[in-house]
Amino acid sequence: MTTDLTRRIQQSYQEVADACGIENARHQSFASANDAILLEKVLKNVESEGGRVLDLGCCGYPWVTNFLRNEGYEVVGTDVYKPTWYDKDLVGKLGVPLVAYDGHDLPFKAGSFDLVLMFGVLEHVGVWKTSEEKYRECNPEVTKHRRDVLDEVQRVLSDEGVLYITKFPNTHGRDKYLSKMINGDIGHLNSERARPEYLRDLIGESFEIRSFFADGLLPHRIPFDLPFSSVPNTYSKVDKLLSNAPLLKEFAQNYCVIATPR
Ligand SMILES: C[S@@+](CC[C@H](N)C(=O)[O-])C[C@H]1O[C@@H](n2cnc3c(N)ncnc32)[C@H](O)[C@@H]1O
Repeated sequence: MTTDLTRRIQQSYQEVADACGIENARHQSFASANDAILLEKVLKNVESEGGRVLDLGCCGYPWVTNFLRNEGYEVVGTDVYKPTWYDKDLVGKLGVPLVAYDGHDLPFKAGSFDLVLMFGVLEHVGVWKTSEEKYRECNPEVTKHRRDVLDEVQRVLSDEGVLYITKFPNTHGRDKYLSKMINGDIGHLNSERARPEYLRDLIGESFEIRSFFADGLLPHRIPFDLPFSSVPNTYSKVDKLLSNAPLLKEFAQNYCVIATPR
């Protein structure tokens, strides 16, 4: 099932890439090989029939919003950053519902969603587009902004709703040590890293944490060209296993959290 899901995710990347005029969807997307596994886990919480989803921080490359729309979910994407989707007219070309917002007050009524996704977003809140901030410790002002965003998420989620956060970078993530050698990059820029306790405290204020795990011990992208439809699932499973093993998890790249409103 996950293999098929991976294929459909790839199709969504491609559709967005085609609409944007980008040649290689896989390299443009922020998605990693783990996303099919993660999405599958998340979607188990929400029926596609009537399931209302908010893709918060969908970016100029709204592959998740597009994917969920294709899957039959009632989905809307929102972000503070809108040049790509306006310039490329993604709403017109793909018909994906994208709504701009100010980064503080979500333009939706209370209880509007059954699932809110934050894929690689919370670590950018308060520091987006300020690269000089990139390795700064999470400061009180930034943390307050994140709390406000999470309060808004709590407001727009239904009582039984689910919040799913992925890719919050680990202060000690392997990119610091390995990625430069393997990938030739130093990982996630324009974002902050944190320890697991920071993220637990931040989310724990307004949400009950149901699951907290790590991923991304292995390189973010598979460094050679493999058929997308089969290998990434095995790769992701091995990655998740290693990422959550004692000791090794210290070096896993990201944290993922599934939470429900208190
Ligand atoms: C790495 S990109 C996210 C990528 C996208 N979710 C994906 O999976 O491809 C980070 C996004 O966080 C957004 N962001 C930053 N501050 C935000 C805020 N206060 N509220 C919502 N999104 C925010 C940025 O505009 C940016 O699009």
